[in-house]
Amino acid sequence: MIQCPRGTRDFLPDEMERRRYYENILRNVARTFGFREIATPIFEEAELFVTKSGPNILNEIYAFKDKGDRDLALRPELTAPVVRMFVNGMSNEPRPLKLFYFGQCFRYERPQSGRYREFFQFGAELIGNANAETDAEAIALAVSMIKALGLKKYKIRIGHIGILRNMLACAELPQEKLQEVLQKLDKKMYDDAETILSSAGIGADTIKKIFDVTDTVGGKEVLDMVTDDAAAYMKELMEILEAMDVTDAEIDLGVVRGLDYYTGMVFEAEAPSLGAEKQICGGGSYSLSELFGGEKVFSTGFAIGFDRILLAMEKEGQIFENKGVDAYVVPVSDDVRLEASKIVSMLRDHGISADIDIMRRKMAKAMKHASAVGARYAVIVGKNELEDDSVTVRDMSSGDQRTVKLDGLYASFGK
Ligand code: HAM
Repeated sequence: MIQCPRGTRDFLPDEMERRRYYENILRNVARTFGFREIATPIFEEAELFVTKSGPNILNEIYAFKDKGDRDLALRPELTAPVVRMFVNGMSNEPRPLKLFYFGQCFRYERPQSGRYREFFQFGAELIGNANAETDAEAIALAVSMIKALGLKKYKIRIGHIGILRNMLACAELPQEKLQEVLQKLDKKMYDDAETILSSAGIGADTIKKIFDVTDTVGGKEVLDMVTDDAAAYMKELMEILEAMDVTDAEIDLGVVRGLDYYTGMVFEAEAPSLGAEKQICGGGSYSLSELFGGEKVFSTGFAIGFDRILLAMEKEGQIFENKGVDAYVVPVSDDVRLEASKIVSMLRDHGISADIDIMRRKMAKAMKHASAVGARYAVIVGKNELEDDSVTVRDMSSGDQRTVKLDGLYASFGK
């Protein structure tokens, strides 16, 4: 039997209905913040992802040659594609641009619970500005989305990668080592980070100061201990967030982020119920457009790991109820089947989701099927009632029945 490829999933109808429902909640929240949806191709020139991250990224993504010998890659994320799109055709639009997207990403990772090779991100990018209001807007949107989905236990941590970058630059850490150290700090692998730093000639005192910064966690008062311009910026950001009623975010200067395009504020959300793969959202401010042939433009964005946040909601016991069709039309005998077909068409024309027995089942079996597919009502079409232009409507949950005239049938579904 052929299975779907490792790290990918099929979504059956119940799951798909659930996913679409929550996706649309996220779309609506993004729209209330003035963001507009966009879509980019699933595959891109591989160079788009290599330019910033270097050729090693090719080991982590699905890169391939097409029949025209072009180097392509399935997108591992959407920030680079969205910035490419901005440089290609949107750079003259009024700023800031507020864009959101929902789509699948592909990473060649070792699959486990909450980590897939094909997964979905719901993300937003605010392009064209670099100030605390922009960062606050992105964080507030992410928090509103998490809340709108009904997730109860989550943690938002906000950091500033500029502080660490500055310290490492002042300590004269060679550029090629910088990303390596940041990645170790992101994974809290302090011993490895120390080895790289001391072999680059950086003294124990400086290393301690760097590690102390990554340990700076708490309310905005912890910023008093940091002597960097970025600390004042972060205070301003926290004040704006408070004004926007985002009060459940904490400062954590140890937030480093795995991707290497961030320059300033960085943030992450995690759901403790998820264990190892608990990060449900990540983002920050960056500048990428100049790498893709555009002018330098500052942006802020984030992406929610849609699969992970759904898992977290499930772990919290959130239940999604699938909805069956509104009406299931059951002809009582073969000689009313044509009439039943007319009735189901009439209901559908009025926007009522309606199904009909097309298996030529006997009435009792058809009713059983209506119940199995979760229909709200059965519309029973019998010869005697038809002579009076009527049908019987049965409420499938209570079993109550009533006779309804055909010309008022669609209105009886309350739509
Ligand atoms: P990221 O942190 O790499 O950031 O991914 C965002 C989210 O996608 C993660 O927090 C996680 O929930 C989810 N995710 C990542 N990898 C997997 C996986 N293998 N399986 C399931 N879920 C996964 C970005 O991608 C940035 N583009 C975010 C951003 C937008 N920054 C600025 N703008």
